[in-house]
Amino acid sequence: MIDLAEVQPGRESDFVTRIPLPPDRLDALSREILQLKEEMNAIILAHNYQVPEIQDVADFVGDSLGLSQQAAKTKAETIVFCGVHFMAETAKILNPGKTVLLPDKDAGCSLEASCPAHKLKALQDTNPNFYTIAYINCSAEVKALSDVICTSGNAVKIVQASPKERDLLFVPDENLGAWVMEQTRRKMTLWQGSCYAHVEFTHAGVMRIRRQFPDAPLVAHPECTKAVRMLADEICSTEKMVDFCKRSPAPAFLIATEAGMIHRLNKECPGKRFVPVPVENCRCNECKFMKMNTLEKLHDCMLSRSPRVELSQALIERARLPIERMLRISSQALANAG
Ligand code: 13P
Ligand code: SF4
Repeated sequence: MIDLAEVQPGRESDFVTRIPLPPDRLDALSREILQLKEEMNAIILAHNYQVPEIQDVADFVGDSLGLSQQAAKTKAETIVFCGVHFMAETAKILNPGKTVLLPDKDAGCSLEASCPAHKLKALQDTNPNFYTIAYINCSAEVKALSDVICTSGNAVKIVQASPKERDLLFVPDENLGAWVMEQTRRKMTLWQGSCYAHVEFTHAGVMRIRRQFPDAPLVAHPECTKAVRMLADEICSTEKMVDFCKRSPAPAFLIATEAGMIHRLNKECPGKRFVPVPVENCRCNECKFMKMNTLEKLHDCMLSRSPRVELSQALIERARLPIERMLRISSQALANAG
């Protein structure tokens, strides 16, 4: 339990105060959203970190890889993307002719913010042999400067498939990059960026909760620091967390990722217990950007058909190539595995 009196000053922006909707308002809004969806020929895609009431009206809930695969194949005329801005942008890049809506256009990402395109370009200019692998948590401009995109669900495969003779530059998450280096033994230059929420999980926090649940496997996102990853029984993307917990015979799990994941896990694995790893001095295991989307904003954006994601044709064409390369490598890897 977090003692609010002990919260350090200057962290207010990390707090998300959500007042639950009264049940009749929640039902009415959910029904209207589903009706609007039919009228608009829309698909609602939601990330695993979205609030439960958004996950519950979505056509597809998943990780960044699953969401981009869904965006690539949808026949719907409008994509309503409940996630953060770079995810909706990716959907637009894959569907330039479609309307892509995002309930809150200010839903950013600390990783995206850490890597402005002009700084990446300046670094790339220092070594013409760089092969740039960009984690999908980056802007369209950074994607346009990259050779290939990856997500936490396919980063190992993407790095393994990268040309042996090139110097690998991995942006913008140094924690994911360091984990991928351990897995692949490929040396990479790492951009110094991190997820503000995942770095709040600590070794001490895990050890403390482990005393209460000594037999529960620790499942951690690769955006966590090495101090946490070294304690994990499984390190994976949010979607693979669902697979791991379904397959594992364990009755309880410690989860080191954004708190929205717990709703998805409870739904997919009834009868099992999911314990969020506590963070020390804040509630920032709730991503303040993901939590900007609410059911009301989702409803309003569908009603007003805005805010929309708009990108120039030139940017779309350039940013599309590394995303398509990622999707190709991912589906080849799946075909080879099956
Ligand atoms: P996943 O692709 O694993 O869902 O991760 C997205 C993300 O933003 C993690 O913070
Ligand atoms: Fe970005 Fe972290 Fe939020 Fe994921 S959890 S969207 S990496 S700030």
